[in-house]
Amino acid sequence: MKICKSKADLNQQLTNSELSSSIGFTPTMGALHQGHLSLIKNAKDNQDLTVVSIFVNPSQFNEPKDFKNYPVQIDEDIKLLEELDVDILFLPAVEEMYPEGINNNHNYDFGLLGTLLEGENRPGHFDGVAVIVSRLLQLVQPHNLYMGQKDYQQCLIVKSLIEQMGIETKLHICPIIREENGLAMSSRNLLLSYEEKNEATLIHKVLRFCKENAYKLSIPELQSHVQKAFKDSSFFSELEYISFNDANNLSPISIIEKGANIVISIAAKSNKVRLIDNMLLIS
Ligand code: PAJ
Repeated sequence: MKICKSKADLNQQLTNSELSSSIGFTPTMGALHQGHLSLIKNAKDNQDLTVVSIFVNPSQFNEPKDFKNYPVQIDEDIKLLEELDVDILFLPAVEEMYPEGINNNHNYDFGLLGTLLEGENRPGHFDGVAVIVSRLLQLVQPHNLYMGQKDYQQCLIVKSLIEQMGIETKLHICPIIREENGLAMSSRNLLLSYEEKNEATLIHKVLRFCKENAYKLSIPELQSHVQKAFKDSSFFSELEYISFNDANNLSPISIIEKGANIVISIAAKSNKVRLIDNMLLIS
């Protein structure tokens, strides 16, 4: 595996590589787990030249404490990527990606998509994501881009970004990988103890409840069930949202119609971490 720390080095490696195959790109912020690795395996299965980036992007963190606490374990990550036979790891420093200084300024317009859910609760977050992902896409110029349904809204933002950039990259949205107990894998889970991770499975339990009862109860009834479950939880301090949206564009919905593509999204905070998850209701 080639490790490139500069844009020039990455460019050189990409030019040197046999471009008979397509380039498959998986951007990450490291502290890799099976969720990340599943994206890379998809790229490998497609016979792509696999490029992975690890960059904890400062401009997408709306809370300094979250940025400071974000887990970093680069030696373990490199080992995992070597085991998967990744071709190129792009590992830039902050100055390499933000030579003009950290900012989240861009000229893209995400409309409603950027203002709901995570957009509303993490102001500026998707602006930071748009800045870094557009820069990475310009550098790597991948044929295929692999991202996780775990961050469903981020996938729709990046889909729109690709359209607005006018590039040919194909976005592959890969399924959520979960722990055996149902908790969606996340780098932030590293900040939790075994017991806390078990408590955190409440997120998955309520999503399943909503999915199983989607055609029996109304949205307000489903939401109040979830709100009660979180009030009773000693682990979670705040349920930020439990939301039902059109899975194509995240327009809010008030009635669950049979056959409609709906995404149920949730965000909740404990005193240590903020966790998100979602489930699709597609018949
Ligand atoms: P990060 O949180 O490291 O996630 C990198 C990719 O892994 C994202 O596409 C995310 O959706 C996917 N992923 C995370 N957990 C997953 C799981 N349990 N199952 C399947 N896929 C999962 O998302 C980011 O980084 C950043 O915002 C980034 C796109 C790299 C821009 O900085």
